Amino acid sequence: ILLVRWYNTFKMKHLFIALSALCVAIVSAADDVLVLTDSNFDAEIVKHSIILMEFYAPWCGHCKKLAPEYDIAATKLKRNDPPIRIGKVDCTENTATCSKFGVSGYPTLKLFADGKLSKDYDGPRQADGIVKYMQKAASPAAVLIETAAAHDKLLQKSSSVVVVGYFTDKAKATAFENVAKTLRDDYKFAYTTSDDVMDAAGEKDTVKMYRPQAMANKFEESTMVIAGEPTVDGYRTFLNENALGRCGLLTTDNYGKFKKPLVILAGSDVDYVKNIKGSNYWRNRVVKFGKEFKEQLTFGIANKDGIVGLLPESGLPEDVSPVVVIVDAQDRKYVMPNAFSSKDNFVAFLTSYTNGELSPFIKSEEPPADNDGPVTVVTGKTFDEIVMDESKDVLIEFYAPWCGHCKSLEPKWNELGEKMKDNNDIVIAKIDATANDSPSQFQVSGFPTIYFAPKGNKQNPVKYQGGREVADFSKYLKENASKGKSEL
Ligand SMILES: *[C@@H]1O[C@H](CO)[C@@H](O)[C@H](O)[C@H]1NC(C)=O
Repeated sequence: ILLVRWYNTFKMKHLFIALSALCVAIVSAADDVLVLTDSNFDAEIVKHSIILMEFYAPWCGHCKKLAPEYDIAATKLKRNDPPIRIGKVDCTENTATCSKFGVSGYPTLKLFADGKLSKDYDGPRQADGIVKYMQKAASPAAVLIETAAAHDKLLQKSSSVVVVGYFTDKAKATAFENVAKTLRDDYKFAYTTSDDVMDAAGEKDTVKMYRPQAMANKFEESTMVIAGEPTVDGYRTFLNENALGRCGLLTTDNYGKFKKPLVILAGSDVDYVKNIKGSNYWRNRVVKFGKEFKEQLTFGIANKDGIVGLLPESGLPEDVSPVVVIVDAQDRKYVMPNAFSSKDNFVAFLTSYTNGELSPFIKSEEPPADNDGPVTVVTGKTFDEIVMDESKDVLIEFYAPWCGHCKSLEPKWNELGEKMKDNNDIVIAKIDATANDSPSQFQVSGFPTIYFAPKGNKQNPVKYQGGREVADFSKYLKENASKGKSEL
């Protein structure tokens, strides 16, 4: 008996050890996330030069999804050298802190630097992404240059604009670093306080902007002095106006920095790493040929595959490379129909644009030659003529060829068209919305979407929300068509 009891105790003990080991493992992973409350928030936040805080609610689905990623990131960041911490606040229990920071949805993530709110976190939500983001945020906003060799290397290899401060006065360097903290996501900053570096660079108590060396050209200086005391507004304005130069390298990331109307030259061989010479060949021509338009238009050069989504998906001239597209402030696009081979073609295109003679590109199928069926077929090109005709009431279906609900609607839509065929005031129409553009007042969010575009009020079409039987449509038209009940 004694032996059995001893054996049982032995088993229990092992089970207990195993269980507690398991608990420790679970707790330690989650533990790396700092848990802050109303009572310790302020005291804890000032301890970290940089810290990410998640404001969450235990019931929130997105928070639960983030939790395992956040835990992993916390562990990795805690092991970083030096350690970087991330934390969380349960807003259902710590309402004072959460309302102080205006938290209105969950999860909300905010970055705190030196004890103060720095900015909203807009980075990735996967562990690795969070880690990378925080490592960058924790690195100095302005790189300290200590040797002349490091100075040259930095400028030689940079593929983006670098702003370098040369300071004999430490206080000036601090002001510069503060500006860099705010603008670091958009531009690269570096500075030096070393006499050797300043002697080698031939600069003293100046701040200079360097454009990438690969983009040097004879039409503009590669460097510019930024005058005046460092301020966020002053630097931002200066850099936004000058960093890109006469024809900047355009990517999906920096697209927003280019003023509109913007002339884009996009070629498959534009590549400032692998084909600097070829890229500059095109770029120099854009600058030279477009010289007379530089006050009215902005110019950019891009790799065609690097700006997918910014160019029209179709309708670019075939066998023409590079292509030229103008984007205006309303995001309308104008495509140069011929090759960028001569100054004449380019200047003629820019002249027509600035004279307001061009029509924007509209995605469209070819309109059908025979359009006498019960349902009128509309395309991008014929939308104005058919749907925007102020003398007709138009009921139009926006469909997608692959959509099942659209297919079931088709016989009913045809029947309705047949019914209204002899009515000269009403048009029953359809458009393949995947292949044709339509004006922005027709918001298509799912398929099919049906709009009623009444006579004399084409700027305010009404989304049809009723039933999908022929009787429903007829009733709708009876009540809502301009001519009214009596005549239908
Ligand atoms: C007529 O249009 C209005 C406004 O869109 C709508 O509420 C109403 O249901 C329509 N009439 C019928 C019979 O569908």
